[in-house]
Amino acid sequence: MNYLNNPSTACTTPPQGLSLDTQLSHNDILSLNTYDFLAYLGKTTINPGGVEGRKQLLNHLNIKPNTHLLEIGCGTGHTACYIAKKYNCKVTAIDISEAMVDEARLTIKKAGLEDRVQCKTGDIMELEYEDNHFDYVMSQAVLMFVDQKKSLSEIIRVLKPGGSYAGLEFAWHKQPSLDMERETNQICGCVSLKFHLISDWKKSLTDSNFIHTKTVIKKLKMLSIIGFIQDEGIINTVKISLKLCLKTENRIRMKIIWAHFSNHLDYIGYGLLTGEKPS
Ligand SMILES: C[S@@+](CC[C@H](N)C(=O)[O-])C[C@H]1O[C@@H](n2cnc3c(N)ncnc32)[C@H](O)[C@@H]1O
Repeated sequence: MNYLNNPSTACTTPPQGLSLDTQLSHNDILSLNTYDFLAYLGKTTINPGGVEGRKQLLNHLNIKPNTHLLEIGCGTGHTACYIAKKYNCKVTAIDISEAMVDEARLTIKKAGLEDRVQCKTGDIMELEYEDNHFDYVMSQAVLMFVDQKKSLSEIIRVLKPGGSYAGLEFAWHKQPSLDMERETNQICGCVSLKFHLISDWKKSLTDSNFIHTKTVIKKLKMLSIIGFIQDEGIINTVKISLKLCLKTENRIRMKIIWAHFSNHLDYIGYGLLTGEKPS
């Protein structure tokens, strides 16, 4: 099965039993969605803004040592650890994928942050937390996979009054053709994926009753050599490059993803989205 001919893989459902160091067959690699593929390669930051976007996003929040922040769709756990370490605060990190949660727990353990970062499985569409619980909620490259009305209503529910949401998502610089949208979803291996114009992301926030909303669109750097090294550091970039060199199907898959995003930088960017829950 070739993912280009079969874009029915839902990004929200990672392949059952996929552990990030699993040895995958040719067909497995070609049918993984892009995000699981990048995680399988060993990429630690899997969102369009990378570490620079994360920094810009965190500048919108006023995190203090007594802050309790929920990160949804934490992936490999690097952002949760970065926040807990930088601000010395408490972070709850959740992800729908058990494989990602296992990986994130390893990251937390290696960083010695088990006292500050708690990680568990959880679904943005049905948060298990009580109302008015968190000071901040953050997500990066997650809303685009799910029903935004439902997920934003869950986020605002668990935020304390006066608390803020900060999100980083793919965004269109200008309206794409239907063909380009379809091709992007195919390249990503997802049918459920939805990028938006930045004005539509803003509308989603205000429609969900967030106030003081701010949205800004930025240039995509994730799939550039500089962006890659900034996100992964030299050692991990070399490790990932080796994995690409050693397996033809890894290389083919990466080349297709890289070419699509690099060829459409005038269309595809990322948005920083912030909004506050009314007091
Ligand atoms: C593109 S990756 C981004 C990972 C991480 N936020 C980062 O920036 O590196 C999307 C993540 O969202 C998770 N995810 C997808 N649907 C979700 C849902 N309904 N609830 C919680 N997490 C979800 C996926 O398992 C995956 O780890």
